[in-house]
Amino acid sequence: MEALIFAHRGSSKTHPENTMPAFQAALESGADGIELDVQLTKDHVPVVIHDLTVDRTTDGEGFVMNYTYKDIQSLDAGSWFDSTFEGIRIPSLEEVMKWIKGTHLKLNIELKNGYPRFPELEEKVIALIRQFEMEERVILSSFNHYSLVETKRLAPELETAVLFMEGLYEPWDYAEHIGARALHPYLPVAVPELIQVASSKNMPVRVFTVNGPEQMKQLLKAGCSIFTDDPETAVSIRRNWRDS
Ligand code: G3P
Ligand code: CA
Repeated sequence: MEALIFAHRGSSKTHPENTMPAFQAALESGADGIELDVQLTKDHVPVVIHDLTVDRTTDGEGFVMNYTYKDIQSLDAGSWFDSTFEGIRIPSLEEVMKWIKGTHLKLNIELKNGYPRFPELEEKVIALIRQFEMEERVILSSFNHYSLVETKRLAPELETAVLFMEGLYEPWDYAEHIGARALHPYLPVAVPELIQVASSKNMPVRVFTVNGPEQMKQLLKAGCSIFTDDPETAVSIRRNWRDS
């Protein structure tokens, strides 16, 4: 299987997560793709932010779903990380799509559709993927597997992936049952048996979040893809063992 490196929320070790500078840094690191998180604003615009509230990663407070797109744009999403990033904004998914279209990067969109459930999230995201003709480079994942089933119903051409944090029994069968093409397990449950059996069934395994150099090496060598906050290190590890 292809061992790909995805920058988790962009290059989030060195840049404010889920922002354009973090995505640009991921591109420059030599990563194969980026991962980001999407929610809807009050006026139904898909925006890129991880937490349900803006409190941790901006200078504002309150739930993302209570902000209009215009209002969320006025928040500073860079200073919390470092003052050199002052003035960086929360990007819309559309802005990221416009940028990524001109790169070679793959894009994993995580639908933050647990609680609250954003009823239009799948439709809005699918419309953007189609608008930018990114169907071949996008993977949609979610911890809410109902959202994955809905995505598949609306857009059978898109790849969906099962995100999970617990020891699912024979997850390759479950993934197939809900039309998903890949498994995205949390590192502690990405046990060798899971990796071996899924790989033998040609089902990609992409593990999150892998920041330790030794774990990066083991997983990449086993043919897994990884999500990492530190794509620079992962790329150099992969380059070293491929060259040796
Ligand atoms: O998609 C992998 C990973 O991002 C899922 O967890 O909490 O970092 O969004 P979280
Ligand atoms: Ca995520």
